[in-house]
Amino acid sequence: MAKKKKSSSHNLPAVVHPAVASDRSPVIMTELVLPSHTNALNTIFGGVVMGWIDIAGAIAAQRYCRNPVVTVSIDHLHFIVPIKIGYTVRITARVTYAGRTSMETEVLVDAENAITGEVRRATKAYLTYVAIDAQGRPKQVPSFSVSGAAEKKAFAEAEVRRKRRLAWLGE
Ligand SMILES: CC(C)(COP(=O)(O)OP(=O)(O)OC[C@H]1O[C@@H](n2cnc3c(N)ncnc32)[C@H](O)[C@@H]1OP(=O)(O)O)[C@@H](O)C(=O)NCCC(=O)NCCS
Repeated sequence: MAKKKKSSSHNLPAVVHPAVASDRSPVIMTELVLPSHTNALNTIFGGVVMGWIDIAGAIAAQRYCRNPVVTVSIDHLHFIVPIKIGYTVRITARVTYAGRTSMETEVLVDAENAITGEVRRATKAYLTYVAIDAQGRPKQVPSFSVSGAAEKKAFAEAEVRRKRRLAWLGE
């Protein structure tokens, strides 16, 4: 008699998303501003936002290269509007450029007053990550393919930012 297959305690699929070698889909992180994130004015600490930006950008870069990454650079950060206690913060990160071992990510931060529904752009930043091997040395990442006029323009703009960044470093 055929053995009855042991039933699972749930009906969830084993794999929700099939493995993709290099994935450019955006990372979307949503956070609620709690008292532990705020200053005496009940608005968010800049450092908390910077941490969220770095995490979202790193996840996007790792998703792109399927490798551990380290942060090497954060371009100018401007806090445009205060983010208040109780607001919802949406952080969206995507890879905009890849060199040989480095990747640029664009990170947008939007603050939502969940009661009124008003959403305002609070911050925009560009961060650079480098893929590293087990010895901490830079490792090659997949090449960044572009198609269509809009993508080509965005890539060219990212190249300009990279040149400026490296010029600032004195390379
Ligand atoms: C990442 C690290 C291994 C790179 O080493 P390195 O000797 O600078 O390596 P390279 O000169 O070959 O540069 C590697 C890539 O990073 C880029 N890069 C290096 N420093 C950079 C910077 N400050 N800003 C932007 N890009 C930078 C280079 O242009 C190069 O890009 P490419 O391969 O796409 O052309 C080294 O800088 C490091 O370990 N830094 C500390 C990272 C860290 O601790 N971060 C904080 C915690 S995550």
